[in-house]
Amino acid sequence: MNFYIMTLFPEMVMDGLNTSILKRAMERDAIHVEAFNIRDYTQDKHKKVDDYPYGGGAGMLMQAQPVFSTYEAILEKRGKKDRCRVIFLSPQGRVFDQSFARELAQEEDLIFLCGHYEGVDERVLEEIVTDEVSIGDYVLTGGELPAMVMIDAISRMVPGVLNNEESAVTESHSDHLLEYPQYSRPEVWHGKPVPEVLMSGHHAKIAEWRLAQSVERTKRKRPDLYEQYRMEHPECENPEPKKRRRRRTSNTEENTCNS
Ligand code: ADE
Repeated sequence: MNFYIMTLFPEMVMDGLNTSILKRAMERDAIHVEAFNIRDYTQDKHKKVDDYPYGGGAGMLMQAQPVFSTYEAILEKRGKKDRCRVIFLSPQGRVFDQSFARELAQEEDLIFLCGHYEGVDERVLEEIVTDEVSIGDYVLTGGELPAMVMIDAISRMVPGVLNNEESAVTESHSDHLLEYPQYSRPEVWHGKPVPEVLMSGHHAKIAEWRLAQSVERTKRKRPDLYEQYRMEHPECENPEPKKRRRRRTSNTEENTCNS
C-alpha cells in the first residue's frame, strides 16, 4: 500500500513513521510512505506558500497553487489514471476510528494533505479532497500528527505489516471489545500474583477468562463501545464464557463468540 503525504514538514512525518514495525514494513515493501514538501512546488520566487485571507481575520492561509501542484506531482509519480482518495486532516472532519481504518486499508494508494497556518484555500480543497478526517475533538497545530496516527492504524491492517505473533494479539477495539489484562514475569510483583487461571495451561479456560475480562472492562471503561458490541453480538447478551471463545489467529480481526 502506498501513502503519499503533502506537508510542509516532510522530515517530521518520515522520521516519525520510519521506526519500529512501520520501518520494517517499509523495508519489506509491505507499505511505501513518501512525503512531498509543498514548499518545493510553490511558484512564488520567495518560496512563500501562505497569504492573508480575503475578508480579513486572524492568521494566514495555505494557498491553492502550491497544494495543487504538489497533488499533481504525486499523481504523476503514482502514474495511474484512476483517482485515489485524498484525505484532508482537519478537526472538522469525520472522526477516525478502527472501522474507518479497516476501510482505508483496502485502498492501494492514499494521499494525505496536512494543513497548517489557519487553514487552506477552500477552492483547492473542493477540487482534490475526497475525505475530511479528524482524529478527535481537539485542535492540533497541523495535520502531520493526525496523518501519522492514521497511517499507523491503517498500516497495521495491511497484509505483511504485522508478523504472525503481532497479528495473533487480540486487539483493542477490533470488535468493540477492549483488550483483556496481560501479565508477564515475575509470578508475584509487589505482592500481586498473576491470576491463577493463566498459570493453568488450560487454553479453553484461559480464553474464557480473557473474554469475560474483555467484556467486563468494556462495560466499565467504555459503555459506548459495549453498546455497539452488544448490538453486533446479540447472541452474547449474557456471555456464558464456557461456550464462548475469542480467537485471534490472523489480523483479519475475526471474532468468534461461539465456536
Ligand atoms: N488538524 C488540527 N487538528 C486536527 C484534528 N483534531 N484532527 C485532524 N487534523 C487536525
